[in-house]
Amino acid sequence: MAMDIFRIEGPVRLSGTVAVNGSKNASLPIMAAAVLAPGVSVLKGAPQLSDIFVFSQLLTDIGCKVNRRPDGSITIDSTIIEKPVGEYDIVRRMRAGICILGPLLARRGKAEVSMPGGCAIGYRPVDIHLRGLSELGAQIRLENGYIVADAGRGLRGNEIFLGGPFGSTVLGTANVLMAATLAKGTTVIESAACEPEITDLAHCLNSMGAKISGIGSPRLVIEGVNKLQPFNYRVIPDRIEAGTFMAAAAITKGCLHVNNCRLADLMAVVDKLRSIGVTIEAENSGCIVACSVRVHSADITTQPYPGFPTDLQAQFMALLALAEGNSIIIEKIFPDRFMHVAELSRMAANLRKEGSAVIVSGVGKLIAAPVMASDLRASAALVLAALAAEGETVINRVYHIDRGYEKIEQRLNPVGAKITRESD
Ligand code: EPU
Repeated sequence: MAMDIFRIEGPVRLSGTVAVNGSKNASLPIMAAAVLAPGVSVLKGAPQLSDIFVFSQLLTDIGCKVNRRPDGSITIDSTIIEKPVGEYDIVRRMRAGICILGPLLARRGKAEVSMPGGCAIGYRPVDIHLRGLSELGAQIRLENGYIVADAGRGLRGNEIFLGGPFGSTVLGTANVLMAATLAKGTTVIESAACEPEITDLAHCLNSMGAKISGIGSPRLVIEGVNKLQPFNYRVIPDRIEAGTFMAAAAITKGCLHVNNCRLADLMAVVDKLRSIGVTIEAENSGCIVACSVRVHSADITTQPYPGFPTDLQAQFMALLALAEGNSIIIEKIFPDRFMHVAELSRMAANLRKEGSAVIVSGVGKLIAAPVMASDLRASAALVLAALAAEGETVINRVYHIDRGYEKIEQRLNPVGAKITRESD
């Protein structure tokens, strides 16, 4: 693994146009959906990220032929599935590999996927995925660290409640939804995740011939069909990348035209930014984000969609670290997702963690320091802080950022950032 570092010179003021890529978290389950229909599916707009590459490896490993065309689209030929097994060596590198389980089970009647291991953002169980699939009629057991699922007599539709202690589950909903498309009879998923990535997956599945209604709501109704056709589908823009660019405009007191962004997917974020003094205007296929004042403080609680996304919690902590006044950030999805707190503190942010909340006392300036990237959103927060901090910040372990943001330096430098990548 390349151990690149970033040197980031600050403070800068960003101005100009940045384009948002296709959504990573929508692309991954859609790639898994290709397994449901033998033949060649085409995914358009997927970003060039290591997570997408690892998922391609997972598909290749089970027997698919995966290619990137010159126009950037990904073709997945799933005519032959040689072995319905998601190997540990691949899934341990990317938890999202778990969402191959539902499609493999539906296609082959049997599937094995490595139980995902530890994760930088805290304990992430998959019990709800398994409960949902077993309610569709699969026998599930754990063997040598693998989830072994068997639907010998086929999957049957059922009424399934998918809520858990932290609300709905995004990939759990994806897994059960995909399996249910090919089950016999009707499935009702209650407390389904409503995230735009799930909505996008459902639209893609319907384009393949699935019969899903209630899309976008917490109650999905799926009428099982006998077979599906391969898809030719363009993924939605990445709302988390868009929100990160919006925060970048705000933290640098700059003005960015964030192109290819759907404001409707970002209402909680837009509302929060406006409340702290940032202006956001819709513009063609994106928006203009501008900030000329020191932002005000705000309280943020992360929640399932349409609430404020956990995937932007770290970036907004960096922003609020420079706010006028005190903010409280409460993490209600991943209570331990605070790897960035210690690193931001090294840059002179004034943060106090209390359980799954952080009290942010706004400071007048951040100061550059050597810091360590951890999970990918925490790393994005460090990039934002570095853009605004005085001096040269060195970020180690940039591969974490590369998992979620395609060549971020090549996209932010044209609008005024001073980021250089060096191989360690
Ligand atoms: N949960 C359970 N049991 C389960 C599944 C989830 O208790 O079986 C809990 C989790 O521990 C968590 C909550 O439910 O407390 C929500 O987790 P969810 O299942 O929704 O997360 P996920 O599907 O594993 C996706 C994204 C994450 C994002 C979360 C929350 C992908 C590939 N990943 O994960 O994205 O943070 O939803 O929105 O879609 C990222 O991109 O940086 C990232 C981590």
